[in-house]
Amino acid sequence: MPIPPLASGPQGPDALRPLLDTVLDALRAGTRARGGPLPVGGPEAVAARVREAVGDVLPAQGAPDALRALVHMFAEGAADPADPLCAAHLHCPPLAAATAADLAASALNPSLDSWDQAPAASALEALVTRALAAEAGLADALVTTGGTEANQLALLLARERTREQSRQETRERPRELTREQARAAHGGTVRLVCGANAHHSLPRAAWLLGLPEPVVLPTPAGVLDPAVLDEALTHLEGPLLVAATAGTTDAGLIDPLPDIAARCAVHGARLHIDAAYGAGLLFSDRHRARLTGLDAADTVTLDLHKLGWQPVAAGLLAVRDPGDLAALRQRADYLNADDDTEAGLPDLLGRSLRTSRRPDILKIAVTLKTLGRTGLGQLVDRVCALAHEFADLVGNHPRLDLHDRPTLSTVLFRPTGASDDTVAAVRRRLLTEGRAVLGRARLDGRLWLKATLLNPATSPADLAALLTLVEATLAEGNTPG
Ligand SMILES: Cc1ncc(COP(=O)(O)O)c(C=O)c1O
Repeated sequence: MPIPPLASGPQGPDALRPLLDTVLDALRAGTRARGGPLPVGGPEAVAARVREAVGDVLPAQGAPDALRALVHMFAEGAADPADPLCAAHLHCPPLAAATAADLAASALNPSLDSWDQAPAASALEALVTRALAAEAGLADALVTTGGTEANQLALLLARERTREQSRQETRERPRELTREQARAAHGGTVRLVCGANAHHSLPRAAWLLGLPEPVVLPTPAGVLDPAVLDEALTHLEGPLLVAATAGTTDAGLIDPLPDIAARCAVHGARLHIDAAYGAGLLFSDRHRARLTGLDAADTVTLDLHKLGWQPVAAGLLAVRDPGDLAALRQRADYLNADDDTEAGLPDLLGRSLRTSRRPDILKIAVTLKTLGRTGLGQLVDRVCALAHEFADLVGNHPRLDLHDRPTLSTVLFRPTGASDDTVAAVRRRLLTEGRAVLGRARLDGRLWLKATLLNPATSPADLAALLTLVEATLAEGNTPG
């Protein structure tokens, strides 16, 4: 058997071109076969079709048609974020330019654990991460697989920084300590203080890192109350890390960042802001001011596979003090030997906990440059405006309740007088019948349907169609659980 063609090298593009035609044709045919936002029939029917398309996973002899068949199956069975009726999650339709750039990343396969695997990619990453950090008012940024990894790193850096401060204080024992130093000198591991509105990855990261049980403050209004935070910071002992959210997962709300930052400063607590959703507002002249206070954070999570139209993965953790990154320093002779570093080879190992690492920065760089601030800002403005239009439709509807006016691009609504079970069943029925993908959120003690509008190509007619579908599904009644 001949050696299969490789993606890079002088012959790579020629080998890829016909395969790309196959992929694109299969994407088109699979999308047509699906005919809606997601496949019909629910998990069992989808799994049966996948089994049938795949057959023997590792056949003794290869099947030349596998690429077409599997991509067709993949597209037919997808929940397509480019379909306007697919609006459940922070699951954006990626830009074609970003996706095309990702192909180049896959073809060349640079790995960002050492310069000799990624010469241009590492220089590009250094440029772009610093530029994005500067957008957020911070100094530097690490590329992550998304919001979860960025939040984990934020907690890790906080733990290591406070440990370091604690060690230093014990050594120096100055006569007069600042509040922050006093907290650190108190010893112990940093403790997470966050709102009940925070993403689950934050308390989970505390668990992963062996931190004390987090203090979770109630957020009945959906956002952290600075007075409640102040009270907690007044009474809690030891080094503290406050995590605020700019763009909550359930409702897209933004915690009062300047007030929170001020309370953290008074009490000597470190501040992390999870802006995985909201950071996209930085591109918008109209909405940017709503992130005022972001630059007061020690660390900020950004995630461009949400309000940035990137294929997964495209997360970042921005840091105010590059000294925080010292905690990630690592030597492995085969990747960053001291003499190589001294001779000028960039040391990349300390920019992630991963070793091999995709150049996710390429698609981000291509997007920033292709659309510019104006182009990206327009996309952000468009989805925020769509959310307002949708909220108007819900608000004017006689049989639907609106939770609140949208802050970002999330709208929560429910059929008037429906039980939670009915709301849940309507959502599942829409999913099973392949008609629409809506999310769910439990707020104010009730279950809501959630529309997360991230598709700038959605039209007002699509928004109306979504509501018509919900109404029709409700009217059909006897919705299966
Ligand atoms: C506020 C917030 N932070 C973090 C995350 C986790 O991001 P990822 O799924 O990219 O890990 C999410 C995901 O929705 C989120 O909404």
